[in-house]
Amino acid sequence: MSAAGTWQAFVTAARAAIERELDRRLPPESERPGRLHAAMRYSVFAGGKRLRPALVLAAGEAFGAGRERLLAPAAAVELIHTYSLVHDDLPALDDDDLRRGRPTLHRRFDEATAILAGDALLTLGLTLLALEPAEAEAGRRARAVALVGEAAGTGGMIGGQEEDLEAERAWPADAARALERIHRGKTGALLVASLRLGAIHAGASVAEETLLTRFGERVGLMFQVADDILDVEGSAGELGKTPGKDAEARKLTWPGLHGLAASHAKLAELAAEARSFAASLPEAGGLFRSLIDFLSSRDH
Ligand code: IPE
Ligand code: IPE
Ligand code: MG
Ligand code: MG
Ligand code: MG
Repeated sequence: MSAAGTWQAFVTAARAAIERELDRRLPPESERPGRLHAAMRYSVFAGGKRLRPALVLAAGEAFGAGRERLLAPAAAVELIHTYSLVHDDLPALDDDDLRRGRPTLHRRFDEATAILAGDALLTLGLTLLALEPAEAEAGRRARAVALVGEAAGTGGMIGGQEEDLEAERAWPADAARALERIHRGKTGALLVASLRLGAIHAGASVAEETLLTRFGERVGLMFQVADDILDVEGSAGELGKTPGKDAEARKLTWPGLHGLAASHAKLAELAAEARSFAASLPEAGGLFRSLIDFLSSRDH
């Protein structure tokens, strides 16, 4: 594949539009309460791979939607993802000091501000999904809110976060099954929802959305298995977060339970499954296959 068709090239080209949309949707620091708005902006504009908004754009455009219809929903999922990071880093959860290469929000500001900034990012994201794109049929926007709300809720991200924390206290008896459920919940659910969100605003068929879901489930699991591997193998410089924290907290992770070799093998197995689904996506899934290559060898 030519470099122009790669996932990295797609994200590089889309990044400025995503950043502009985020800037446009976040209240300015000059607006009251300015310190809270500054805190929200601090975490959103700290960097980040912008994977989830890029998935919204890639899926939506693959099924024929124009980018202008997809940017607000794309920004919404990035706001919600950023909220999840801010809360994940809190002392009561993972207690992290470094995120996206900077001090975590509660370190740079304070804990109460981090809790409220997270709340505000989540509610802003959901509100944006309800309002934009304004020209879309109201039913589509309602589906978008329900889709992302459910993915972020107890059946998805928050459910996974809860089980992740429960497992720190004692690994459950059925650890392998619990681990897969945690990963699908805390990380996979929002990634799948990002793809489906693009499909909804493109007016894709039920069969197309189902195909994206199958593909996204593999991608979501790949993403968190790689995140677990990077916590063991990565450096703070590459990751922008402190490595080694999972073992320290006795987290139930893929390398922790199955070992590093089996984790790499799992990545390869999931990549093969994802590729077989990608082959049925538009343009033989070229962009999506490149995404799989990126996720197979990512170092941050
Ligand atoms: C980190 O997500 C949290 C997980 C769900 C594993 P990312 O690795 O996508 O973080 P950013 O957005 O690039 O900072
Ligand atoms: C976080 O998983 C998932 C969410 C934020 C929902 P991790 O706790 O492994 O993410 P990192 O490693 O802190 O980014
Ligand atoms: Mg965590
Ligand atoms: Mg964490
Ligand atoms: Mg991690």
